[in-house]
Amino acid sequence: MLSVAILAAGKGTRMESSIPKVLHKISGKSLLQRVIDTCIKLNPDQIFVITGHKSKEVQKSIPENKKIKFVIQDPQLGTGHAIQVLCKEVKKHDGKLLILNGDVPLIRPNTLKNLLYLHDSKNADVSLITTKKTNPHGYGRVFLNGDFIERIVEEKDCNNLERENRLINAGIYCFKWGNLSEIINSLQSNNNQKEIYLTDTVSLLKNSLSLEVEDNGELQGINNRIQLSECEESIQNLIKEKHMLNGVTFINKASCSISEEAEIGKDVIIEANTHIRGNTKINSHCIIGPNTFIENSEVGLSCEISNSTVYASQIMDYIKIGPYSHIRPNSKISSYSKIGNFVEIKNSKLEEESKVNHLSYIGDSIIGRSTNIGAGTITANFDGQKKHQTKIGKNSSIGANTVFVAPINLGESVTTGAGSVITKDSKDNSLAISRTEQVNIENWERKKSLSN
Ligand code: UD1
Ligand code: CA
Repeated sequence: MLSVAILAAGKGTRMESSIPKVLHKISGKSLLQRVIDTCIKLNPDQIFVITGHKSKEVQKSIPENKKIKFVIQDPQLGTGHAIQVLCKEVKKHDGKLLILNGDVPLIRPNTLKNLLYLHDSKNADVSLITTKKTNPHGYGRVFLNGDFIERIVEEKDCNNLERENRLINAGIYCFKWGNLSEIINSLQSNNNQKEIYLTDTVSLLKNSLSLEVEDNGELQGINNRIQLSECEESIQNLIKEKHMLNGVTFINKASCSISEEAEIGKDVIIEANTHIRGNTKINSHCIIGPNTFIENSEVGLSCEISNSTVYASQIMDYIKIGPYSHIRPNSKISSYSKIGNFVEIKNSKLEEESKVNHLSYIGDSIIGRSTNIGAGTITANFDGQKKHQTKIGKNSSIGANTVFVAPINLGESVTTGAGSVITKDSKDNSLAISRTEQVNIENWERKKSLSN
């Protein structure tokens, strides 16, 4: 029987934040969610998440799962106290209890499996993950006696000599739960932080073992925003390396960020300052960026998107977007289209080979195949209360600065005169024009301004 407990009750004072520490995110996912997702891969029988500070907020952030149970620790008197509360709340203490700090988000399932293996094969009372750090500042120092851990001393309780020890406690432990519950209530808080330390259990148990692993970044704990950004960087490096090995070029790797879920095809070039977020798929031979943000969207083959933002939309093949366009949610741009300079598109469908080249707003619209939207065209889709649709048939030619006062339905091969305000539907092959005729008054004398 394998049970997991994740410690997530602390405030995270050193984050200087109104958000609980474990809800801070790296690469779009909270620290706590990352630890939970990793633990689920071990297929445990049950997962206890210990919450306390802003517990409602923390619990709400986790999607429902039958295996996950929340235990409230209030007040929060230390990591040992958290487990005292758990042992009191849960009556059965069978099998192994794997305890993880909720602020060590990069721990890998394989490392946990190695810990469980060591624990079982050596029949340990407790086994825990340790590593030698070049800079161990802030971590509990682990002191060995032969093969066994003798004690762990927190940074704040170390004397100068103890502080020299570079072997640190990663905050990840496997206990024989039965043995742990027998000693858990004898922990004291007679230390410099006046807290009940979980780490004091190792001196109370007999067979305490250390699994020393290489310091490859996965054991980084997050106590402040510097460590948060270090973890973000290590995760981003891994993601980008994966894509580079799969045939993606990064022109300026450090300035780009890519979500873990993103899929990127071969021979895609990611230019500087480009951010691919959420569930996004970029197909082969695209050039994305510079200065581009794409979230929850699919981009087809051989597209070029520069200096633009795309949210929750579908961009098909051989399309050029930008510079400076904003494609808002629920848009579909069909193949061979061109969305040009300073164009905003929202909740609209553009058929193949459409062109919206300059300075337009197209909202709630359906634009037919091979239709050209002239510079400055605007759909006035909102009447102050409701949004309305604009429909323009295929092969149409929309004059510069046309305003469509929606709802509007134009047929196919329609032309609109430049500067027209279109308020009525029109049929196939018609010209729609609404503007006053130009008047030329000859020999017009300009009024002299008063100041002259
Ligand atoms: C802890 C360890 C330290 C180890 C380090 C690894 C102790 C006493 N020290 O120190 O040896 O090197 O982690 O990263 O355990 N929490 C609760 N309830 C509480 C207090 C904390 O649930 O009452 C949770 C926090 O939300 C956090 C985790 O426990 O997720 C660790 O707490 P933190 O205060 O960050 O411990 P460290 O000082 O980092
Ligand atoms: Ca910590």
